[in-house]
Amino acid sequence: MTEQQKEIYQQVTKWFHEARNRILEGRARGLDVQNKTSRLDLVTNIDKEIERFFREKINENFSDSAILGEEGNKADFKSSKGLFWVIDPIDGTMNFVKQAADFASMIAIYQDQKPLLGFIYDVIHDRLYWGGPGIGVYCNKEQLPAPKNIQLKDGLLGVNGPMMLTNYRNLQEVIRKSAGARIYGSAGIEFIHVLTGQCVGYLSHLRPWDYAAGSILAESLNLSVKTIDGKLLDVVSSEDVLVATKNAYIEISALMSAK
Ligand code: IPD
Ligand code: CA
Ligand code: CA
Repeated sequence: MTEQQKEIYQQVTKWFHEARNRILEGRARGLDVQNKTSRLDLVTNIDKEIERFFREKINENFSDSAILGEEGNKADFKSSKGLFWVIDPIDGTMNFVKQAADFASMIAIYQDQKPLLGFIYDVIHDRLYWGGPGIGVYCNKEQLPAPKNIQLKDGLLGVNGPMMLTNYRNLQEVIRKSAGARIYGSAGIEFIHVLTGQCVGYLSHLRPWDYAAGSILAESLNLSVKTIDGKLLDVVSSEDVLVATKNAYIEISALMSAK
């Protein structure tokens, strides 16, 4: 790990633990829930508070940074120099509101547009998945082994509910060829399942803050993470993202490109 990665890791780990207290206490006090684009697209006072909190910490400690956050200003990745931070304060807000489970908090960090560190925090279980190029991936202090390069038939596949219902690009056939579909409702939690080898892959239509941290971690474990059509993720566009073992990626991409 470089000195820069170490310094950022030490800071960000502290921020996530403070954020956890704020999230749990805030939810216990009662949430203010609002619809964004629809009744299925929610934001709470805690989503906003946690993003503000991360922004304050970044500006205090790494003042020359640019920030792209789901609930705030969205700096342009393409023109960024130096440190660039991508924040999803609560990923899986519907789960956070309805279940108080299966949600995550995520930060991705780039230096001169190159991946530096990714963090996915499983808040309820207090498990911080973090890593980056040259580091591998850790769950808290324990290093994760790279998942076995299994085939689609041998693993569970995380999917997006609406895509499954509409048979988006032949998805139902992909599911039939897998060991079964799972829908968790949080991109962060879904990425964790692939990183830990619990799922063979995950696919969904995602925005940059949904996929940035997960894609840095997936690449560090030698998984394939691209659009379904094989395009690299650019931290700018919303994409049909597919993360999977190398073998399953090839199979799924072929099945979904045929339609
Ligand atoms: C959502 C979740 C969900 C995915 C949506 C995302 P949010 O994030 O990750 O699993 O299907 O596309 O928007 O809005 O709860 O941060
Ligand atoms: Ca969010
Ligand atoms: Ca999200």
